[in-house]
Amino acid sequence: MIKILFVCLGNICRSPMAEFICRDMLEKRGLSHKIACASAATSDEEAGNPVYPPARRKLKEMGIDCALKRAVQLTRGDYDRYDLLIGMEARNVSAMKRICGGDPENKIHRLLDGAPHPRDIADPWYTGDFDAACRDITEGCARLIDRLAEGRAAY
Ligand code: 4NP
Repeated sequence: MIKILFVCLGNICRSPMAEFICRDMLEKRGLSHKIACASAATSDEEAGNPVYPPARRKLKEMGIDCALKRAVQLTRGDYDRYDLLIGMEARNVSAMKRICGGDPENKIHRLLDGAPHPRDIADPWYTGDFDAACRDITEGCARLIDRLAEGRAAY
């Protein structure tokens, strides 16, 4: 089983969207027995809180329910528990490396690194653009699953 942890600043917008969109893709592609995913935050600001309502609505539009998700903070132990720890933006990646005490096994990456146009996923908490976040996250998750399903390195 390949285990992926998606990470953003608050774990109430982008990384839960990535977790639930990725899980939905895995179920639809019959890959749930091979790849699993979860999500966490670099900050403790939102710990225990549900997914932010506009992100929840966006997932609902896609037929995905995330009502039970609660924000959790990334811990150093997660580095050993997961095979890949995927940040949404460069700032997340720096914070993830700080929390995990570095990245000796090259497990930490930015979701859209390796995309045709490598870039951050803009934070919809600030931009208000949940459609753009959803499009970017869908692109990143599809590419990640494609590569893992082909037995290639994710990044
Ligand atoms: P996320 O968005 O990192 O995509 O979950 C944010 C959520 C909350 C805050 C910042 C970003 N905040 O400052 O509380």
